Amino acid sequence: MGFRIVQVSDLHLSRDRAYFFDNWDVFVGLIRDDPPDLVVVSGDLSFDGWGDPAALAFAREQIARLEAPVRVLPGNHDIGECPAGPRPGRAVTQAHHRRFLDLFGEDRWTVALGAWTLIGIDSEIFQSGLEAEAAQRLWLEATLAETAGPVALFMHKPPYLDDPDDERVTAGWCDPRSRRWLFGLIDRHDVRVVGCGHLHIWRHVRRGGVDIVWAPSTSFVNADERKPDHGGTHRVGFVDYRLEGTEAEIRFVEPALFANIDLRNWFRSGRSALHLPPRPLCRTNNESG
Ligand SMILES: [Fe+2]
Ligand SMILES: [Fe+2]
Repeated sequence: MGFRIVQVSDLHLSRDRAYFFDNWDVFVGLIRDDPPDLVVVSGDLSFDGWGDPAALAFAREQIARLEAPVRVLPGNHDIGECPAGPRPGRAVTQAHHRRFLDLFGEDRWTVALGAWTLIGIDSEIFQSGLEAEAAQRLWLEATLAETAGPVALFMHKPPYLDDPDDERVTAGWCDPRSRRWLFGLIDRHDVRVVGCGHLHIWRHVRRGGVDIVWAPSTSFVNADERKPDHGGTHRVGFVDYRLEGTEAEIRFVEPALFANIDLRNWFRSGRSALHLPPRPLCRTNNESG
């Protein structure tokens, strides 16, 4: 018997900056009409949960609308990120981490589906120095050691862009020290898939026997002309995984009713998406559920 997983990423939901709500609403309907065995939400659930707890609570209400089993991971917009990176002003703290756990449950998890084990980890605490980072390391090492059969690993930040030996510390992908640890584990165990988000692109490459998947966002196309192109396809959508035996078939899905919001006009002003002015949700049919 086969299994179907949907990975959805970078929802950037907010009640008062509801620019990206419509695609999310379409997604909720698609899951209701054709529920998969699991939905993995790979981070940046909120527009700015780091700075605004209400945005994280709103994202929690929205995730609860999904009529399928769901596992959630945090992104940098939800809890912040590694303070050693280029955005130290939005560092993850114990308080931000705890707030996420209180709303969504554990930020590391396993799900068994047939021969497969799906594992979610929190990439935003990498290089944070938090106790949770050390605990996650031990947990992942022990979990992989006792797992038989193929593994699909999910996290928010991509492990790298093009070069697994890239030593640059950027906001775009994992710190090289964390990546070395992670790939050391991946290479010793039967990890077949690494699914991530964060760059708002669809991209699928193979490294050795591992499929590395960049899930697109449901929110906006992050085609920022000030930064180097991250490759891949700058479109909104989600990822569909079909697991048959020990094989995985991976597909980019672009629903007909997903509108591609391109924020390049805004980025030309030199501001980030976080600086977008209020645009409240004005819906009477689905205020929160
Ligand atoms: Fe994002
Ligand atoms: Fe992100």
